[in-house]
Amino acid sequence: MIAIDDLRQQFTARFSSVPRIYRAPGRVNIIGEHTDYNMGFVLPAAIDKAAWMAIAPAEDARSHWVSADFNDECYADLDVVERSSHHWANYILGVVKQFQELGHAVPAFNALIMADVPIGSGLSSSAALQSVVAWALNDWLGLEYGRKELALLVQRAENQFIGLQCGIMDMFASLNGKKGHALRLDCQSLDYELFPLDLLGHKIVLLDTGVKHSLANTEYNTRRNECEAGVRIISKARAGVESLRDVDLQELFSHQHEFDPVIFRRCRFVIEENDRVLRTCEAMRQGDLSRVGELMKGSHRGLRDDYEVSCRELDLLSTLADEEPTILGSRMMGGGFGGCTINLVQENGLDQLLFRIKQAYQEATGIVLKHYTVVTDDGASKS
Ligand code: GLA
Repeated sequence: MIAIDDLRQQFTARFSSVPRIYRAPGRVNIIGEHTDYNMGFVLPAAIDKAAWMAIAPAEDARSHWVSADFNDECYADLDVVERSSHHWANYILGVVKQFQELGHAVPAFNALIMADVPIGSGLSSSAALQSVVAWALNDWLGLEYGRKELALLVQRAENQFIGLQCGIMDMFASLNGKKGHALRLDCQSLDYELFPLDLLGHKIVLLDTGVKHSLANTEYNTRRNECEAGVRIISKARAGVESLRDVDLQELFSHQHEFDPVIFRRCRFVIEENDRVLRTCEAMRQGDLSRVGELMKGSHRGLRDDYEVSCRELDLLSTLADEEPTILGSRMMGGGFGGCTINLVQENGLDQLLFRIKQAYQEATGIVLKHYTVVTDDGASKS
């Protein structure tokens, strides 16, 4: 947990001025993986780990930014926004550039960034950072963009400035999350519904593989292309099909003979995963957490066998979880090829359970397994 007073004091000591302070959280995703860029459904929640930004006007024309986590600092000239060699600063620059493209002058500012979202674990630390910058600039510049518009702005920053063709889930959850709730987002219309997350004596536990395989980004973009290839086949036969959201399983199967088998499996997974999100919401409405757990397991199987974005370490964690009766459901979370599994775990006996899994994981991989027990939190805010 970041101490706001500490952040404020560090800022003042550094820049001799009193900052405004903003925060935006990381996220978990209960179910609905790789469905966002296919215009489908996702079920994320903002969590109690966040990026914080203290900001005040700069005294001269140069912006001066400090990252407490990387113990690094840099200067930026916002008249010509260019990529920086300080990789964390690019997440600020990309968002600044989006505001400029909307016609807003962004004066030079001093900023201090601190975050407790683990980096590279699939909890959207970068979306949290970009969202806090967007939220801060929107308020500081007196602009009135809403949370949905800011989520789209952050997504454009990530797509265009950072170069990852991600969907909208991460920033949308960071900006729109609500404590005690998950958010069922329709990525086509951007309408969402808040679902009370009543976990009835269970906790959301993230188990961190401690790996991030280097193919994650290229494979992510490949999956997007594969889904688009599938859409092209079907849209030839039926006009108006723009994404896999417009296709059901029956229609997909009726075209199977035209499909490369790999592309077919990718598309089938996405359509099934969308359906799992809706069924999970239904099960949550009925308080049927065992069913939610089963659907999570189904999601993992699909991501492993059909979408092929899992890896040995994630599969190991999911297998270990399947052997534990107090884990209702477990699955890889986020883009894949590393990061965390999300687990729905009975509170009773949690310590012993973690001990067993950590031991087994370390024996098999040599990696010390980290875990995070998270609770839901509100989306971006000002302190
Ligand atoms: C990453 C992306 C998201 C989403 C997930 C997979 O987290 O940033 O947009 O596509 O992968 O569900």
